[in-house]
Amino acid sequence: MKTLIASPEIERYIQNLYPVEDPTLSEMGELGEKTNFPIVGPLVGRLLYQLTKLTRAKNVFEMGSGFGYSALWFALALPEDGVIHLTDQSTKNSELAKRFFLQANLAHKARFHVGDSLEILSKMRENFDIIFIDIEKELYPKALDLAKSKVNVGGLLIADNLLWFGQVLEKHGDASTEAIKEFNQKLFNDCNFISTLHPVRDGVGVAYKIA
Ligand SMILES: C[S@@+](CC[C@H](N)C(=O)[O-])C[C@H]1O[C@@H](n2cnc3c(N)ncnc32)[C@H](O)[C@@H]1O
Repeated sequence: MKTLIASPEIERYIQNLYPVEDPTLSEMGELGEKTNFPIVGPLVGRLLYQLTKLTRAKNVFEMGSGFGYSALWFALALPEDGVIHLTDQSTKNSELAKRFFLQANLAHKARFHVGDSLEILSKMRENFDIIFIDIEKELYPKALDLAKSKVNVGGLLIADNLLWFGQVLEKHGDASTEAIKEFNQKLFNDCNFISTLHPVRDGVGVAYKIA
């Protein structure tokens, strides 16, 4: 059964503590709500922004960028010569993301790719300071195997939905739930990473690569 990790009142309280966000982000947030599109939302967005600043990341690879909401948070935190690669299987999402990045004057930091995020990542020659996973949940274990090798030592692997609205507590869940449980077991048993799971919105995993 799906449950909210934090109550809407607590989430609203935290959000009200945070400064007023970029107007393009607010517009994207409204679009997400109107179309019922699962963006990470402002609490996770600000965490992504903070982690990017903390690690002084210069390049980010996002698996499952949708119409660019979480990617815009990364882009806001990146230095002027920083780059975020947005990958999504939907051309429509990618075109929308381009429009929002232009509107926010951040298009110079973005590279847009349409197709399977795993395939695109496997073809990238460079490694990344941050890799963010937010694709189809059944693909999470495969995405982890690939992303682990493509993130720099000292960099971060971040993944959304690691509590899967409480369904990780189910003994025998559906395919998505079982895939997330497998992902969590794999990640938190990997001694090449120092990993934490934050119960923000639907659970955000942050893994710091040490070797
Ligand atoms: C949860 S949404 C992403 C939301 C986005 N990260 C945000 O917070 O703004 C998941 C996205 O992943 C895309 N997706 C799912 N599986 C994919 C795959 N294998 N390759 C590329 N995109 C994928 C979907 O089209 C969808 O736009």
